[in-house]
Amino acid sequence: MCGIVGVIGKGPAVPRLVDGLKRLEYRGYDSSGVATLVADRIQRRRAEGKIVNLEARLSQEPLDGTIGIAHTRWATHGVPNERNAHPHATGKVALVHNGIIENYRQLRDELTRAGHKFESETDSEVMAQLITHLLDQGLSPEDATAKALKRVEGAFALGILFDGHPDLLIGARRGSPLAVGWGQGEMFLGSDAMALAPMTDKISYLEEGDWVVLRRDNAVFHDETDKVVSREVRLTALSGALIGKGNHRHFMLKEIYEQPAVIGDTLNTMFNPATREIALPQLPFDIAKVPKITIIACGTSYYSALVAKYWFERVARVAVEIDIASEFRYREAPMPEGGLAIFISQSGETSDTLAALRYAKAQKQHVLAVVNVPESAMAREAHAVLHTHAGPEIGVASTKAFTCQLTVLACLAIATARARGAIDAATEAKLSAAIAEVPSRANEVMGHDGAIQQLAQKVMEARDILFIGRGTGFAIAMEGALKLKEISYIHAEGYAAGELKHGPIALIDETVPVIVIAPSDHLFEKTYSNMQEVMARGGRVIFLSDKEGIARIGDEAEATIEIPSVDPFVAPILYAIPVQLLAYHVAVLKGTDVDQPRNLAKSVTVE
Ligand code: F6R
Repeated sequence: MCGIVGVIGKGPAVPRLVDGLKRLEYRGYDSSGVATLVADRIQRRRAEGKIVNLEARLSQEPLDGTIGIAHTRWATHGVPNERNAHPHATGKVALVHNGIIENYRQLRDELTRAGHKFESETDSEVMAQLITHLLDQGLSPEDATAKALKRVEGAFALGILFDGHPDLLIGARRGSPLAVGWGQGEMFLGSDAMALAPMTDKISYLEEGDWVVLRRDNAVFHDETDKVVSREVRLTALSGALIGKGNHRHFMLKEIYEQPAVIGDTLNTMFNPATREIALPQLPFDIAKVPKITIIACGTSYYSALVAKYWFERVARVAVEIDIASEFRYREAPMPEGGLAIFISQSGETSDTLAALRYAKAQKQHVLAVVNVPESAMAREAHAVLHTHAGPEIGVASTKAFTCQLTVLACLAIATARARGAIDAATEAKLSAAIAEVPSRANEVMGHDGAIQQLAQKVMEARDILFIGRGTGFAIAMEGALKLKEISYIHAEGYAAGELKHGPIALIDETVPVIVIAPSDHLFEKTYSNMQEVMARGGRVIFLSDKEGIARIGDEAEATIEIPSVDPFVAPILYAIPVQLLAYHVAVLKGTDVDQPRNLAKSVTVE
């Protein structure tokens, strides 16, 4: 992952570099650093941990200069200490890197034999040393970079600063995103347009294999064969303001509470209130004719795919295959020509999902991206995009992006069902009405926050927690377990309720809370039986259901949370909220870093 910023400007570079890093902190927060040219010489400051540590360091030891590069790290090779923090510098270059250089061992051995001394354990430093080696042979910075790029294997975005060259920055991209920002007599480099938003709204994206030479007054792009190419300049609508937490203690809580509004915003782009029908933007393929739908994503976005599978199959009667992107991309799956491949991603940059998207394109699929970041790589590369309008999601644990993804996919499932003649007008009207009431029902769920906070007290000491459900409730069980694991560090697993007796039930004893996701749907009785199997073995059941469901079980569960009674079709969108809140409150009680949990980053741009 990691985030990169570069500035070649008129005024002091460091404040802008640090501001850019803060906007990229979602990409990693293991360490950070900046390098500038002071009197044409490379100078740098680095710090372990979050960007506040770098700021503290810079306030003790300020750094001048109008040109510089900066980096926030998510560690891949080498522990997250200051020595392994970027920028990596030799006497001649300073370099920041996002990605993985796969042949770094071989290059490191070769360069060590040639007399270069490495100071870090990272794969990235090899690139700084390799360029230095080529500069030592008399090559210009441009030629040395071009030559070095041909020697490295793997995925990367790079920003390179050259000692003695106060009007030169070089960027390069293979696999990892990189954007160039155009100012007036200033140029910028960033992992995404958001990092550059306060400095400019004019952005060009490097394409795969590109490298770019930035000077204060222009940018010259080269493709992977070193040919000079032009790249479109786009205007971005991203706001330059840093997003705040409002009255909330954490971004995650703010984002959970935003859900009724942003689900509504998303719905507004797909639902015609006059006709009360789903009205999707025009798609460049006929959804009635696709032989199969394949949905690919990672993490929480994958659990959206899992919910969508149930929707598309049951409502639209179309065959759906889903997979996690890291498996799918190497599976060499045959795909029927003209099939629809849907890629779901908050960031639109997740490297495995992007690679899977490219594979599907090569397999002649219609490629549809469901993304939250409108200018992301997936949005640019897909044939069609359905946008989630969740707004910037800053908390590393995905919440509002998930429910907005579900909203888009529910609308798409209804539209697909209609196009294929799989539902009659009455069913369509019923499902459309159900989705239209989700924002107000989601608001009602927020009313249970206090009760969920109390529940958190009951489960916070547990060592293991199980989430179970059936149908779309199974997907929410998986999502609930993931949320809890990632921010509270409690071990949790999601299981299909019917699968419990095939092994995991052995884990149940009186110390294991079991969260049962059980809306009153056609599977309720079966989930209820599974819940009794759990209770018979001493398991502590926390029961999430509606009024009817809770009445049905009486006082059998240790605790219940009542979710509004809705059409089962939209239940997963609502049941996602209490599991998010539970994870949140448990994490707060445990005192973890809710918005930036250990070892994680928001945008996963490495394999
Ligand atoms: C979990 C979480 C991750 C992401 C996953 C995919 O809360 O946020 O599991 O869902 O890394 O990211 P995107 O959706 O950006 O492709």
